[in-house]
Amino acid sequence: MKIAVRYYTRSGNTKKLAEVVAEAVAVEAKDVSVPLEDKADVLFLGCSYYAFDIDPAVKDFIVSNKDNIGKIVCFGTSAMMKSMKKPVRKVADTVGVAVAEEEFHCRGEFAKIHKGRPNEADLARAAEFARGIL
Ligand SMILES: Cc1cc2nc3c(=O)[nH]c(=O)nc-3n(C[C@H](O)[C@H](O)[C@H](O)COP(=O)(O)O)c2cc1C
Repeated sequence: MKIAVRYYTRSGNTKKLAEVVAEAVAVEAKDVSVPLEDKADVLFLGCSYYAFDIDPAVKDFIVSNKDNIGKIVCFGTSAMMKSMKKPVRKVADTVGVAVAEEEFHCRGEFAKIHKGRPNEADLARAAEFARGIL
């Protein structure tokens, strides 16, 4: 099974998750500016909310890499929201890409709230989640 990890981050929170997820599944975490060269049976896709939506770069990545994505497994951080699946599915559905039910999501530091998140415990849980997907 081929695995890939891509993420989008603005302040580094989601990148922290991406790195432990990637290490757990023995691939390199790359940001969404790097297209998928080969088909990934499982794409771990990390992103966050900015004004109640995912960044356009994430949407563009899904659309332009659709032929190389078996299924998306979401992971992400946010200040208030609890899942990335809805906005990711909204885009993935338009190009026929499956989004798994399983997901890892945790709090991400924003302004003065959720200081230090994701923390070591979050990162350990993210790694465990990723291993459990394989
Ligand atoms: C401009 C901006 C808008 C945000 N809007 C939301 C939002 O609508 N809902 C939410 O739960 N978090 C929101 N957040 C918090 C981020 O999702 C959170 O800090 C996340 O961990 C950022 O991840 P990143 O460091 O990987 O970019 C916002 C953050 C910023 C900077």
